[in-house]
Amino acid sequence: MRAITTIPPGGGVKLSQVNEGSSSGIRIKTHLTGICGTDKEIAAGKLKFARPEVGQSLILGHEAVGIVSETSDDAAFKEGDVVVPIVRRPGKCRMCQLGRQDYCEDGDFVEAGIRGKNGFMRDEFVENAEYLVKVDNAGILDLAVLTEPLKNVMKMKEIFQFLRLRIPWYCSDSTLSCKNMYVFGTGTEGLLISTVFKELGMNVVEVNRHPLGENVLNYLENNKIEYLDTSAEKLDRRVKEFSMDAAVDAVGAMDVFKEITDNINSNGIALMFGTSGQLPSSNYEVLESIVDKNVAIVGSVDGAKIHYSEAINFLEAHGKGMHMEKLITGKYEPEDLKVFTEREKGEIKKVIAWS
Ligand code: BGC
Ligand code: ZN
Ligand code: ZN
Repeated sequence: MRAITTIPPGGGVKLSQVNEGSSSGIRIKTHLTGICGTDKEIAAGKLKFARPEVGQSLILGHEAVGIVSETSDDAAFKEGDVVVPIVRRPGKCRMCQLGRQDYCEDGDFVEAGIRGKNGFMRDEFVENAEYLVKVDNAGILDLAVLTEPLKNVMKMKEIFQFLRLRIPWYCSDSTLSCKNMYVFGTGTEGLLISTVFKELGMNVVEVNRHPLGENVLNYLENNKIEYLDTSAEKLDRRVKEFSMDAAVDAVGAMDVFKEITDNINSNGIALMFGTSGQLPSSNYEVLESIVDKNVAIVGSVDGAKIHYSEAINFLEAHGKGMHMEKLITGKYEPEDLKVFTEREKGEIKKVIAWS
């Protein structure tokens, strides 16, 4: 069968012929796989922790939706079921054994298509039922390719809801409608974060350093999400008008971290998700403002099985109403390997169609 492979940590991508071997489990025909920053970084040889499962080459792909083609007597899944596979597989630590490998304590886990386990960019794969999540509504078959990136946001929402209970942190009508959330980064993950917090009832401002492309602008406007291009208007000017109650960084650059800590309100909540840059080892002013303002800063990576289910429920309940299909801006063939290196105009999420 066809598979998109790379040689980590050096990178490169190739469409190869591979054999599945004779593993037992549920056989799934891949429908769509999504491409994200992590895949592009692996392909470019920039992700240091990328590593193969065996030998030298790794099958890429951690964002997928597929259809069950063969199953044993396992009652959990039947032929034709639409399923999304889980990326991270547990190691032996306490959190992993509790099914919360997203909070792994020793790093002894593997991630399909990223580190230590072959991914889903191939015609078919065989899985253990434990690592599959069912999509009951086949009407969201294509949209379900967004489940994996969206599950990261569901975990962030859970952390946010927990942190805001530190103090009575809501508006006089008991909703979050007077609270402003600034989201830094307009890639798919940034847009999914904005979508989820908008649906939660917050006033969301998407922040970008450059003018936004038409696709992104239309998406934001359709969802009544505010936006700010900091090359045209300074962040602190907008913050004077709409104070920064909460922020999410989906970029991962130090200057974004400083912009958040400089501008966030007392008792604010900052969720750090991006990892493309480096945080400083010491910066006294930043530290002082975090402490003095009681700011809660939390890093968040990955998500648990429950967050995949929540993501599927979100896509089913709000996918259509919030125009989420518009996030998928291109469908490609497995042969089109340039998707890993070239950026299309107006690109948000590119997907590869396997069937
Ligand atoms: C995935 C996460 C994963 C992380 C780091 C992200 O793209 O969505 O599930 O933990 O990469 O490898
Ligand atoms: Zn991804
Ligand atoms: Zn662990």
